[in-house]
Amino acid sequence: MEQGQSIFVGNIKGGVGKSTLTSLLFDYFMKKRGQRKVQMVDADRQGTSFELLEPLASGDNIRHVPVSDRFDGLSLVTLDSILRRMRSNPDSLTIVDTGAGWPGNVWQIAMLCECIIIPTTLSWADLRPTIEFVREMDERKQSLDTVTPHLIIVPNKVPPSQRDMSMLSDNLKELNVVVAPPLSDLSIVRHMSAEFKGLEPAKGTRFYDEFTRLGDFINDYVLSGRLNQMYDANS
Ligand SMILES: Nc1ncnc2c1ncn2[C@@H]1O[C@H](COP(=O)(O)OP(=O)(O)OP(=O)(O)O)[C@@H](O)[C@H]1O
Ligand SMILES: [Mg+2]
Repeated sequence: MEQGQSIFVGNIKGGVGKSTLTSLLFDYFMKKRGQRKVQMVDADRQGTSFELLEPLASGDNIRHVPVSDRFDGLSLVTLDSILRRMRSNPDSLTIVDTGAGWPGNVWQIAMLCECIIIPTTLSWADLRPTIEFVREMDERKQSLDTVTPHLIIVPNKVPPSQRDMSMLSDNLKELNVVVAPPLSDLSIVRHMSAEFKGLEPAKGTRFYDEFTRLGDFINDYVLSGRLNQMYDANS
């Protein structure tokens, strides 16, 4: 049976841009695919992207399904069934935002998705736990012998002067990941929370072009299946 698709946004490290990227990807894909086909599930107790996206939402295309350690089991089952239901429409795309930390077995939800978008800054304080997280997800994929979800690292809040990705690539050598081109630090992005208008206010900035390129990459390579074909060709 043909299924819808989903993008999981996650990192055990907090404050790296998970909710920001979730909300901007929601806006990007709504414009690309039409409003009714794009949905967002916020699994973080804080509900940041659920609140951010309220001005853009229509009907029930955004949901808040908090998963925390305290009542983990039950809400994980809820999240799992909600995501499966959302994916049952072959045209649908669901973006899942998650909280920092290791909330129980949320990784099982990630395994249902086409990719995991992993934002990080290039500071070592963020990179170290990020690499740890990537390694763990890569191992889980290997033990399940699956090429999806693709692991896509997105360097975020990168100052224009800092374009050297070698520290990142040096530490990821053995791992099966894609490193996306970096997203700049932009004050407009930091102040988007008041009345969220999506990517529009950033138009004309470097960030806008960078983010559009990221969306295009996810659309043209990951969701289209082209990245899968490359793995198939190599196996
Ligand atoms: N490219 C960027 N430029 C400037 N500020 C940014 C950028 N990306 C994110 N931010 C800011 O960084 C802060 C943290 O972002 P965000 O809330 O998206 O992170 P998070 O990973 O979801 O955090 P949490 O772990 O708490 O859920 C926010 O104030 C956000 O506006
Ligand atoms: Mg968040």
